[in-house]
Amino acid sequence: MNESSAAAQLTALMASRRSIRNFTPQPVADDLVRAVLAAACHAPSAHNKQPWRFAVLRDPADKDRLARALGDRLRADRLKDGDDPRDVDIDVTRSHTRITGAPVAIVVCLTLEDMDVYPDERRRRAERRMAVQSVAMAGHGLLLAAHAHGLGACWLCAPLFAPEVISQALDLPPDWEPQGLVLLGWSAAPGKARDRKPVEAVARFV
Ligand SMILES: Cc1cc2nc3c(=O)[nH]c(=O)nc-3n(C[C@H](O)[C@H](O)[C@H](O)COP(=O)(O)O)c2cc1C
Repeated sequence: MNESSAAAQLTALMASRRSIRNFTPQPVADDLVRAVLAAACHAPSAHNKQPWRFAVLRDPADKDRLARALGDRLRADRLKDGDDPRDVDIDVTRSHTRITGAPVAIVVCLTLEDMDVYPDERRRRAERRMAVQSVAMAGHGLLLAAHAHGLGACWLCAPLFAPEVISQALDLPPDWEPQGLVLLGWSAAPGKARDRKPVEAVARFV
């Protein structure tokens, strides 16, 4: 492949990826999930510490446990906000259906286990942020690799609002901090195209 066709292919792959939230019931083979994760693990990371961890859920009972844990937190937060309980119910049910309707749910986690340790808060915060950034890069790689394999995927932020309940519900290792949830499966329908701001609006050539 010459350089320009590699660039064109990568750009086309990145541009055609969509967030997919509805899936067919067809399962995804474990080897395919492994291939997607292996691709994601090529992401760059601070000090090459690879602080990403992935909890891969396929069993309906595990997905149900995760969805209920997230739903309980969502309900509690929304009711505390004073939202109409009927609206809250609708949202909680939609979230549960979405998560349990995906053949695979991957809790993307962060570990600080191998990251550098500093005596001061300023550098500790920076180091933690580096780990978060590294995990996010792996997350994008995961979404792109899934797309390249013809799978649909979507990143959900819900775990950020309930990391400890997820850890408990899934009995995750103590150092694994849930950062996001990727739903994975065969798309039931094409994703909706979402606009992007033009480069001129987001970049300044200084
Ligand atoms: C950090 C992050 C959090 C997101 N959280 C959610 C979410 O909670 N629920 C959801 O449906 N989509 C979520 N998304 C997907 C975005 O809505 C989606 O990427 C965006 O609308 C652009 O659409 P596209 O991915 O199809 O290009 C999230 C994406 C990112 C990167």
